Amino acid sequence: MIPGARLIILGRQGAGKGTQCVRLSRHFVVPHISTGDMLRAAVREGTPLGQAAKEVMDSGGLVGDDTMVGIVSERLNSDDARTRGYILDGFPRTVGQAEALDLVTGERPLDAVIDLDVPRSLVLERLSARRVCRDCGTNYVASGNERQPWICEVCGGDVMYRADDTPDAINNRLDLYEQQTSPLINYYQATGRLTVVDGVASPDEVFARLTAAVEASRRK
Ligand code: AP5
Repeated sequence: MIPGARLIILGRQGAGKGTQCVRLSRHFVVPHISTGDMLRAAVREGTPLGQAAKEVMDSGGLVGDDTMVGIVSERLNSDDARTRGYILDGFPRTVGQAEALDLVTGERPLDAVIDLDVPRSLVLERLSARRVCRDCGTNYVASGNERQPWICEVCGGDVMYRADDTPDAINNRLDLYEQQTSPLINYYQATGRLTVVDGVASPDEVFARLTAAVEASRRK
């Protein structure tokens, strides 16, 4: 266990960030802060944020920096994140967000920024096969042989496509990654904070690589 670890996991959409952050959060006993999950919860609850974000998210666009920085700053100021650290998944996604995060983290700087590296051709395959439970968000991989309707084994909800896993939205998200998010690699590399982890392996192997990278960065 690493008390108070503060981590960012970067990577293309579909690189496995969500899958691995859930495991890392349990392993290191730190809160998993996923901006995608926070936005999807706001959409489900029909809050003003959710209403404003839904169309942008469904088309694969990015919600505005000011909105995202506000949400994340508030979350990082909550008691659990202040005392137990956090794993940020899906934030920052632009250099503007990263600069704002550096200001917010101030006296409690990041321990590690990890880029989970998976090529575009492979994330396209993964996202095309991804299905999620509408109610609890559990991820599944479709083989094409599932009995319909597909029922979630965790909560009994309907398993279906995520609203932004349409071919158009996936391509839009991946194009935006190249334009707006990939510059973060240089941003964190320039200050010696980046570790690249190869995400092309089984989920267990990728998890082992990630835990090793986190442990190594904490020993620096
Ligand atoms: P978000 O929820 O963050 O979505 P995303 O970045 O598109 O990432 P994904 O959830 O698609 O991919 P992932 O890397 O988590 O992959 P997963 O583990 O599921 O954001 C959604 C939207 O919210 C954004 O598009 C944007 O509109 C908005 N938003 C969020 N944050 C924002 C921000 N900061 N600024 C502005 N807007 C923001 O894995 C994918 C699939 O692969 C799964 O089926 C999984 O089972 C499978 N898989 C995982 N690992 C492996 C493996 N090792 N081998 C084989 N299969 C694997």
